[in-house]
Amino acid sequence: MNTNELKLKIHNENYKKSILFFDEITSTSTYCKDNYKILNDKSIIIAKKQTLGRGKNNRKWLSPSGGLYFSILLKDSLPPINSCQLIPLIVSVAVFEALKNFNVNCKIKWPNDLLINNKKICGILVESKVSSSGLNYLVIGIGLNVNSLSPNDENLNGIFASLKEVYKTTFSLEDLLASIVNNLDNLLPKLDSNLDSVLDTYKSNCLFLNEEVTLVNNNEKIQVKILDIATDGSLKILHNNKIRFINSGEFSIDKKHLK
Ligand code: BTN
Repeated sequence: MNTNELKLKIHNENYKKSILFFDEITSTSTYCKDNYKILNDKSIIIAKKQTLGRGKNNRKWLSPSGGLYFSILLKDSLPPINSCQLIPLIVSVAVFEALKNFNVNCKIKWPNDLLINNKKICGILVESKVSSSGLNYLVIGIGLNVNSLSPNDENLNGIFASLKEVYKTTFSLEDLLASIVNNLDNLLPKLDSNLDSVLDTYKSNCLFLNEEVTLVNNNEKIQVKILDIATDGSLKILHNNKIRFINSGEFSIDKKHLK
């Protein structure tokens, strides 16, 4: 990763001020959380490899070199807590649009996985610290399988692929990262104004809309029809003839649908 080249490609000066690159780190998101008090707003922490990369639901995120692993720390002008559920969807659209710039077509699996041919190429982990005064910080962690060999370990939750494996060519990590940051910089302010176009992009590329699926959590499986993505980012479903709204922590779409 050439951080000087990266800075030339990022538009907003504030995102260029604190870019840190590590050859190896436990986790870029853990680093942001541990150091949030001393790091600037809009710091970008990037790693060539992570030794303890973290995924959703306490899963590991295997992070061999060749992939793009980075976290963005947001501390200022944070959105209200009640709109936090939308951030993972906005980040998905930012990555989706960035990939489209490089002629990569992917699909979104609610709430924030990006897939090509049903194989996961990108995972997003949004973490926050909340206090009585509201949100203290947001850490947006993005893992994109770019030029890496994808781990296909039965113990991992899902089947993975990298862009290089699908497209048989290497991609510039700097170009992808800059494009994601530039998109996020355009999309995040829309949380306060009008998210319609962002949600439209999300929905028109979202897998399983209007389909019958199984939703799973630790101890339950339910058969539902996915009706829509609600304006607060929740999943609108039909279950036992009743309409329900599901938050991302509650259930996820059974991975059997991706086989
Ligand atoms: C998922 O489970 O789908 C989310 C994976 C998020 C991985 C990224 S890689 C950069 C950042 N650092 C981490 O430890 N996790 C996130």
